[in-house]
Amino acid sequence: MRRLAAGLLLAFLLPGQTPEEYFHSAGAGFRATAEEQRLFWRPHVEQSRERILVAAAAAAGRSTATVLGAGVCTEIPLQDLARRFGRVLLVDMDGASMVEAVESLPIELRSKVDLRVADITTFAAVLMQRLHRAAEESRTAEEALERFGKIFASLEPGLLPARLPPSDLIVSSLVLSTLHRYPLSYADRLLRTRFGIRLRSWEGYEDARRRLIRLALEDHFRLLRDALCPGGAVYLAATVARGPAYWQFGEEVARRVESELLPEFRELGLADEGESLAAAVGRLCHARYGVEREIEAFERLLEAYEAASPAAFETMVDVEAARAEWRRAGLRATGPPGKWWWIEYPCSIPHSPGGFRVLSWILRPALGGSPSATAAAAPDPGPRP
Ligand SMILES: C[S@@+](CC[C@H](N)C(=O)[O-])C[C@H]1O[C@@H](n2cnc3c(N)ncnc32)[C@H](O)[C@@H]1O
Repeated sequence: MRRLAAGLLLAFLLPGQTPEEYFHSAGAGFRATAEEQRLFWRPHVEQSRERILVAAAAAAGRSTATVLGAGVCTEIPLQDLARRFGRVLLVDMDGASMVEAVESLPIELRSKVDLRVADITTFAAVLMQRLHRAAEESRTAEEALERFGKIFASLEPGLLPARLPPSDLIVSSLVLSTLHRYPLSYADRLLRTRFGIRLRSWEGYEDARRRLIRLALEDHFRLLRDALCPGGAVYLAATVARGPAYWQFGEEVARRVESELLPEFRELGLADEGESLAAAVGRLCHARYGVEREIEAFERLLEAYEAASPAAFETMVDVEAARAEWRRAGLRATGPPGKWWWIEYPCSIPHSPGGFRVLSWILRPALGGSPSATAAAAPDPGPRP
């Protein structure tokens, strides 16, 4: 009894992270990724940088390039952008990561890069502050959830303006899926710290999540529309799905993937005659084979699971809904999306979701002018077959 009382007291004394601390700790965790793990990011980093430079070349002006959710700029060709544009503006809630990005530049380019520690939405920072206050002031989990419900129900765009300078190039790389996920995972962290419960256990969770996703998409493309100069270009990339989730696929899918992949693994010299795919996969990530061969193995594994069972992947961005929003904002894609895997946590695959499907587009004002003037866009080309 005394221990329970002490636990309850501790819960009241433990302050939940502030939104700023949350962004800061997420960035610090990302920056602390082990070097051996980062080696597997090579295809993602190279393809992202290449496509961003294609978007940069498509932009008519050379004054300002703005990078949204820049973080430590892992996949952003910051040096090239600083050479090509008069000024590069990085915007993120996590200032420490952006400072590290600038410190990686040659000294003569650093003065061309400005940092803005700010919310890139009109709702996330305000929402997170409201959730923080509600959790701090609640005496029970029930009270906190009731207050969370009211906060999510009254959520609307434009709580705080998110203004950007007129930009010739806007880079929105891997940030779209975080706009709703960060506030949700922050709310979850507050509830866990203060009351030992998970946000997912709340009956209002699905409604709140859907509302936030809709709001984030609408808000983001409005921001791009308002900041893009006539003749400008947007590089948009999103982690649209994450997987594979081992617990989602049954025996049948596992067998299908195994029969397709075992011959390929043998060809790559990664599986012996008569052994199972699981045994061959279990040998990856132990520095036995070169990273390049392992990247190829993981890419084939992810492709095979995606083809065998899309349900083994969690949707992170509804591509059709995003396309509808950018068209409503007067933007159109210049071609089919680029498509690759970001193997973020290779060694957990397939037991935990370790790969992200990335899609990337270059968006332009629909009729060549300023996007706000051309909201009735021509249709976008669909994805590559
Ligand atoms: C997956 S990371 C993008 C990768 C990044 N280029 C890097 O290398 O660090 C997402 C970034 O978006 C930022 N972010 C998420 N939501 C944000 C918001 N509402 N306002 C500003 N930044 C946000 C995070 O702080 C994080 O740095």
